[in-house]
Amino acid sequence: MITININCELNKVLHYRCSKDFILNKHVILISSISLKNSAGFRKSVKRLSNLKYFIDPEVEHVLVFATGTKFFDYDIYLNRHILLMDKASCLPCLALSPPPGSTVLDACAAPGNKTICLANYLKNKGVLYAIELNRRRFKELNANLKSAGVKCAHTLNDDFLTVALPFDEIDYVLLDPSCSGSGIRNRADDTKVIDEERLERLSALQTRMITHVMTKFSKVKRVTYSTCSIYSQENEQVVETILDQFSDTFQLVDFLPEWPSRGQTERTRACLRASPDDTLTNGFFVACFERIIKIDIQ
Ligand SMILES: C[S@@+](CC[C@H](N)C(=O)[O-])C[C@H]1O[C@@H](n2cnc3c(N)ncnc32)[C@H](O)[C@@H]1O
Repeated sequence: MITININCELNKVLHYRCSKDFILNKHVILISSISLKNSAGFRKSVKRLSNLKYFIDPEVEHVLVFATGTKFFDYDIYLNRHILLMDKASCLPCLALSPPPGSTVLDACAAPGNKTICLANYLKNKGVLYAIELNRRRFKELNANLKSAGVKCAHTLNDDFLTVALPFDEIDYVLLDPSCSGSGIRNRADDTKVIDEERLERLSALQTRMITHVMTKFSKVKRVTYSTCSIYSQENEQVVETILDQFSDTFQLVDFLPEWPSRGQTERTRACLRASPDDTLTNGFFVACFERIIKIDIQ
């Protein structure tokens, strides 16, 4: 299954609601999304998809679903970056945040910028979107990608998220998609590889440090998403549980997309989403969405 994210607000030419047959010069047939309400219906519809057919994803905004093997490379609509080829699971953190236009948002580990572009789409290019990337080569790639997608609200910084100075108190939403083992997107040949436990523990410690930095430094942040393309609990549930141990007075998990079939694997992390080729027809992925607990003083 291939999903694409429509860059509808940035370039202002595309929106499936006003132009259902816009793509591929009207040779594509839209399949109604009405029967896709549950996961079995979704699966069946994906199986039935043939070349030149697509449907609007019933769960994730701005996403169209195409059959595997669909060739986009001949079409201006793809070459001009009006659409982004992206795994559906990778769109989930942006959906969980859904920052309204005018907000101040941080993408803490941004390159190559797919999620930054999605966030700009939610913002309708209005507001402030800080995008930080440590690696110099990837930072250049990030800037090129944002430019060609028409992102105008981003301030990019080639820096370390853990030390860079930001207007911490002004940031409403944070998307944290840090480096991880990448085990969710490995191919089958990798399945025989031995798990490097030490590396996983190192990654897990760094990921925990990064979320802790968000929870302690960004005093006004309303929502924070944490995501990985890892299948390992050390980088997913274990990190989230450590954060809950420290911050359950101030942050709680959001149970977004309650119908999503694959969930966090421990009692305390059920609100998190997991994704996999078998369960959700996507790459392996994990998302947690935290929101600040609003305390009301009753006198
Ligand atoms: C998983 S990738 C991000 C993918 C990106 N969110 C997207 O959807 O296109 C993680 C990125 O974080 C960057 N990174 C790692 N440590 C960082 C840090 N301390 N500060 C900023 N960026 C960092 C890596 O160089 C890498 O480009």
